[in-house]
Amino acid sequence: MRLDILTLFPNMMQMFFEESIISRARKKGLVEVCFHNLHDYSLTRYGSVDDYPYGGSAGMVMAVEPLANCIEALQRERAYDEVIYTAPDGELFSQPMANELSLKGNLIILCGHYKGVDERLREHFITREISIGDYVLTGGELAAAVIADAVVRLLPGAIGDEQSALADSFQDGLVAPPEYTRPPEFRGWRVPDVLLSGNHAKIEQWRLEQAIERTRERRPNLLKQ
Ligand code: ADE
Repeated sequence: MRLDILTLFPNMMQMFFEESIISRARKKGLVEVCFHNLHDYSLTRYGSVDDYPYGGSAGMVMAVEPLANCIEALQRERAYDEVIYTAPDGELFSQPMANELSLKGNLIILCGHYKGVDERLREHFITREISIGDYVLTGGELAAAVIADAVVRLLPGAIGDEQSALADSFQDGLVAPPEYTRPPEFRGWRVPDVLLSGNHAKIEQWRLEQAIERTRERRPNLLKQ
């Protein structure tokens, strides 16, 4: 997989991608992550890529031409499966969406900023708009990092125990059951006996019951879906 991230803050993004699972996946060659500084595509002497909105509302808008130039320069090099734009009014990011994106080859993620981008960019270049939640961030960088993290960890070989990605919360429409590790008793608080029983069928049954119970308590909307 190749991720091209278009951002005003490549340094801020780089730090995140140089740590942990994403960095390991990059070193293993499972994913190539490239950052593109949108200021490099500025048409002004000052490196700006934003401008005042027509009609005179507050704030600044990212201009269509520099962003289009950046996207098209990449598209001349290779075909992209999706050109994603991170925006609070996009489709809500979810585990099924992460699963779907993890099967793609090349993705562009454009990190939005200011009041957003010129609508013509959304109409003619963006194929998918994604929000990570109903709140407004100062920019799309954190959203792009969230999306990249959720997608890259699903690539085969990215995490040590592949079973554990499949057993994540949300993969089966349920939140994950509780987990315990040694010691079996701490300050009188015991690990549930079933987990120490060695009976795998019983353990699986218990985990499923716990997952359903937790989902009912914490995220009843998942059960309705
Ligand atoms: N940019 C600003 N807020 C955002 C959000 N909630 N999701 C994605 N991109 C954003």
